[in-house]
Amino acid sequence: MVQITWLGHANFELKFENGEVLLLDPWIEGNPAYPKDYKIEKADAIAVSHGHGDHLGDVVSLAKRFESKVAAMVEVAGFCASKGVKYTIGFNKGGTVDLGFVKLTMTHALHSSSITDGDKMIYGGEPVGFILTFKDGRRAYFAGDTAIFSELALYAEIYHPELAFLPIGNFYTMGPEEAAYAARLLKVDQLKASGMSTTWSAASCNQIFQASFAVGILSTQIISYSGYVVLARKVLIQVSM
Ligand code: NI
Repeated sequence: MVQITWLGHANFELKFENGEVLLLDPWIEGNPAYPKDYKIEKADAIAVSHGHGDHLGDVVSLAKRFESKVAAMVEVAGFCASKGVKYTIGFNKGGTVDLGFVKLTMTHALHSSSITDGDKMIYGGEPVGFILTFKDGRRAYFAGDTAIFSELALYAEIYHPELAFLPIGNFYTMGPEEAAYAARLLKVDQLKASGMSTTWSAASCNQIFQASFAVGILSTQIISYSGYVVLARKVLIQVSM
């Protein structure tokens, strides 16, 4: 059982059976959807999708505090190392890194990536997503920020992800309708929507529900409206909101 907690925006905390913790795109400072008073107790590893501040956010400070391994595109990992992060794993699309408790495969993302450092803007390499392979062989797909792209069908064929974290902001990334099509390409059983929509409404939940239903991907039900949407056919992973 992997416990997944949504911490606002694209920030997720995954707790594994033996207590290991993986953070995805941790952004706390300035994140309006970060749950008030929530404390991150540890982070064995942090995966970062790209250099934008709402994703790279608190990576450096958390990695220093918890001595976390930071897995990211080489340029983003290099930036973290230059800021004093001890353990960085800079790799590239198509590569897989084994963290011991989970494997990360770096995927494509259709977006941009740069890092703001003071008044400078630094090249952040290409933006990416990750396929997460759990110990029992099950897989999840974390898209980061992206538009829809057709290679998602290949990811379905190669990785068979059971779970997808997709953005639906519809401004910097794809919106709910494209996310529904993306979920269909990915053939996932569960769809989690994350992204620029830090203020959520029943309307946006309904939008993605209806869109996913319209493209026939799921016999969906909405489990919760509490600031986050989970469309599930079966719940394989414990999720807290
Ligand atoms: Ni971005």
